[in-house]
This record gives sequence, structure tokens and C-alpha cells, in this order.
Amino acid sequence: ASYDMGGHDTYMHKEICEQPDAVDRVLRGRIDDRFSTVHLGGLNLDAREARTIRRIKILGCGTSYHAGLIGAGLIESMARIPADAEPASEFRYRNPVVDPDTLYIAVSQSGETYDVLAAVQELKRKGARVLGVVNVVGSAIAREADGGVYVHAGPEVCVVSTKCFTNTVTAFALLALHLGRIRDLSVTDGKRIIEGLRKLPSQIEEILKTEEQIKEIAAEYAGAQSMMFIGRVRGYPVALEASLKLKEISYIHAEAYPASELKHGPLALIEPALPTIAIVPDDDLLEKNRAALEEIKARSGRILAVAHQPQAKADHTIVVPKNEDELDPILMGIPLQLLAYHTALAMGRDIDKPRNLAKSVTVE
Ligand code: AGP
Repeated sequence: ASYDMGGHDTYMHKEICEQPDAVDRVLRGRIDDRFSTVHLGGLNLDAREARTIRRIKILGCGTSYHAGLIGAGLIESMARIPADAEPASEFRYRNPVVDPDTLYIAVSQSGETYDVLAAVQELKRKGARVLGVVNVVGSAIAREADGGVYVHAGPEVCVVSTKCFTNTVTAFALLALHLGRIRDLSVTDGKRIIEGLRKLPSQIEEILKTEEQIKEIAAEYAGAQSMMFIGRVRGYPVALEASLKLKEISYIHAEAYPASELKHGPLALIEPALPTIAIVPDDDLLEKNRAALEEIKARSGRILAVAHQPQAKADHTIVVPKNEDELDPILMGIPLQLLAYHTALAMGRDIDKPRNLAKSVTVE
């Protein structure tokens, strides 16, 4: 790649640090304060059509699939439309029921991932309406879709996605707000979300200032054989993405589980040698998440919490700024990008070009 590293040692570090500007870009020019809504020019979906949507199915691969899982949660909570995400690679081989009242959304950084493109083409062939949430302008998936939202993350060179993931989730928040305001989200709630969105860039700056603390924690974890990532509801896709990122660049084995599922099996793994990274937002599930930390501590497991306030049961807490509950997942993933980064760096890995992986997989 020919882009300047701008004084950073790796593209990944540069791209992590670019996130305040990147998020600013995805929001710019799209917020309409008069109606507490957003304007998405390329959507190609008028209000009357938007009201007829009965379900939303989001398709993507890898990190983009994880962004889609958070996106589905944002759409359900703001627009109250049943929504879920599925790996595009699976969807296209299970002969899915394609329903005319379902809106399909394809998510892709590159816009060229073959499994996603093929899913879009199969859907279009069956007459479905497909939108794209895509980074690369004019890419194959963007062209194939009926409309969509560009995520404006800018060029991403590192094989693992950081800023594009954050921008994709933010783009989903805009889409959810847009659909919500056409349906049942009140002006007041719209305003609340808009204020939250506007706080994101400076809150990301705040998080980036914790890098030294995260580096020290990473030095402790760099020798681990395996790590467990847990979260609940909104926090679970954050855990999935953080565990993928760690695997991709450090080659440490990692698992992600809903914290609520620990007692149904994975608790058997907990012992001092298996650190747990827990997503603990200050929301309606705080007490439930704390109970999970207690379960882990009772089995002498080491815990790193990403939370809005220090957690007594955790060995370390990375404290992140609070936003609106719906938008917290956007912020909570960011310290874990830095954790994966510094863990991999401490292990001497080739961070921008991890073994066996390509930036975009344009073949089957
Ligand atoms: C690198 O391997 C990525 N983390 C990978 O999971 C990627 O997200 C996936 O291949 C999808 O790529 P796309 O967003 O360009 O479609």
C-alpha cells in the first residue's frame, strides 16, 4: 500500500488513532436537527416504503458480520423492526426463504468480498430489496445494491479492520435513527441519540489516551495460551469482535461467549491461566454482568473489565466514557483494538499482515 503511515509504526496503529476523525466524517452533513433525524442521500427508500418493512436481515463476513450484529441491535432498539445478522457465507448456501417484506443489508469494508457479493446477487435474482453499508465507494457490492450508506472510513490498509468497523457501526446507528424516526422513535429520543452521536469523536479521543495503561495490561497477557471474552446483549458482539481481532493478529486462541451462557458450559474452562475480558456497561444489565465477574473470580480467573466505572471483582478495569446505552458498544470496542494491538506487538507479530489472511477475500 502506498499510503503514508504518518509517523505511526503500523497502519493498524494509524487507523486506530484516526477514529475520531473517521467517525466525524460518517456523521458529517447527515444530521437534521430540525426533525431530530438523519438524512441519508443514497438510501433509495422513501418513508412509505420504509414503513412496510417487516424484518431486516444483515449479511457480512468476519468483522463486517460483527458490525452487522451490533447494527441489528441498534435497528431493533430504535426502529423496533425485528433484525438479525448472519454470515453471508452461510446464508447463501442454506437456500434461505427470501421474503418480500424483508429488507436485506449487505455490509462490507472492501465492497468486494465474494461471499457477500454472491449473497447480494442471489437476493436480487429473487427480487429482494438489498441495501449496502459499504466503505469503498463504487465497489462491486455498492454497485449491485439498490441503495445504501457509505461509511466514509477512508482507506484502510491493515488487514484487520478497526476504523471501518467503528464507522460501520456508527452508520448503522444513523440508519436505525432514520428508520426509527419514520416509525415510532420520538423526537426526544431522536434528539438524545443525536447528542450521543455528536459526543463520539471526543469520547474516542479520551479512550485513545488510555493507551499506556492498555499497553501495560497487554504486556501481562501476552503470554496467555487462550483468552475468554464475555458480554451480554449489546456487549456480546463487542466481545466477538474483540476476540476475532486478538486471534487475527496475536494468534492467541480466544473464545467469545454471552456472559449469561458461562454457566451452561464454558465456566469449566475458567482457571488462573485463562484471562477473561468482560464488557461491563453501566446499563440495565450491570448487576447481571457483575454476577458473572463474581463467578469467574470465585474460580480464581483473572479479569480485565471494560466498563464505565472501576469493577471491584476485576484485576484491571479500562474505564471508558458513558454515552447513551444504545451507542455504548461503539466505544467499548476501541480499547480492545488497542489491547489486541499491544498484545500482538509484545509477541513480535507482523501486525499489518497477519499470516494466512487477506484484506479482502474475493474468491470462494
Ligand atoms: C480480516 O481478515 C478481516 N477482519 C475480515 O474478517 C473481514 O472483515 C472480512 O473478510 C470481510 O471483509 P469486507 O468487510 O471487506 O467485506
